[in-house]
Amino acid sequence: MGGGDVCKVMGGCSLAYRRCEQRLRQLAVARNTRFLLYCCIALALITLAFRSSPPSFIGFTNRSAASAIDRLARSRKGYTLLMNTWKRYDLLKKSLSHYASCSRLDSVHIVWSEPNPPSDTLKKYLKHIVKTKSQDGKEVELRFDINKEDSLNNRFKEIKDLKTEAVFSIDDDVIFSCSTVDFAYNVWESAPDSMVGFVPRVHWPEKSNDKGDYYTYSGWWSVWWTGTYSMVLSKAAFFHKKYLNLYTNEMSASIREFITKNRNCEDIAMSFLVANATNAPPIWVKGKIYEIGSTGISSIGGHTEKRTRCVNRFVAEYGRMPLVYSSMKAVDSRSLWFW
Ligand SMILES: *[C@@H]1O[C@H](CO)[C@@H](O)[C@H](O)[C@H]1NC(C)=O
Repeated sequence: MGGGDVCKVMGGCSLAYRRCEQRLRQLAVARNTRFLLYCCIALALITLAFRSSPPSFIGFTNRSAASAIDRLARSRKGYTLLMNTWKRYDLLKKSLSHYASCSRLDSVHIVWSEPNPPSDTLKKYLKHIVKTKSQDGKEVELRFDINKEDSLNNRFKEIKDLKTEAVFSIDDDVIFSCSTVDFAYNVWESAPDSMVGFVPRVHWPEKSNDKGDYYTYSGWWSVWWTGTYSMVLSKAAFFHKKYLNLYTNEMSASIREFITKNRNCEDIAMSFLVANATNAPPIWVKGKIYEIGSTGISSIGGHTEKRTRCVNRFVAEYGRMPLVYSSMKAVDSRSLWFW
């Protein structure tokens, strides 16, 4: 046998060894994967089993506790639905008929900025909806706040005889379940100076050499990626009615002019206003959003640049950046059984 043959045998052996090792490893991986898969299935089954009926082994039935909480909650005041709408009567009817069925709703104000006042048919129809849908025969007031000028500032106009402290500002094309809205209202009651909402946004500083601090406005993906936010949008948010007064009468008039002219950013202005007044971040509440309209302006190109311009304009007006970061998300712990 020559030296070359030994090499070949050795080579063959090590090849066989390597192959064998590879097989074993594959087997192990396959077994691990299968084990993980079984774990997932088991977990999913357990979750499903407990979701429908809360675990009673914890000591007392959750159901009676929950209804006690609800009864307590109902004895308190409730909120005003402040709905912004523009020539989309089918959406208005749809969303109003949903929110009218929420038990904590006290009254409805529809912000009307169209050149023509609402027709009698529409008024009658909406009144009928609100009356038939409201809970326990409760009388829910429905009012149209008619504006002559078409400006986005109308949305936050002061309402003199508002009955509730809490305002739930909502667009006509987004729907949240009543339990979600009730929960957000509870969160707001525990922090009535804060803005409490479902749609978080964030700003990021960018140092530029000549103009000092410059900020960019970022959308949902940035919030999702970083878990950080500094605004909640007024398309779905609770805030105290005093901020309507501040927005209309105290906030700098040039901010309102800017908003009317640019037809954008009234929601950012409200976030700045509340942040400046409280030196605190807003509160993001978990909630599933159902969009019933067509896609909004946020999907139109150039939207982010426009919003960034607004942020920097408002920073200049305030002489500082009032927005405060947060990474807190409020979740109804009754719907979480695990942790
Ligand atoms: C910001 O808050 C300060 C302190 O509360 C207040 O004096 C000031 O008027 C506010 N600025 C604006 C533009 O609202």
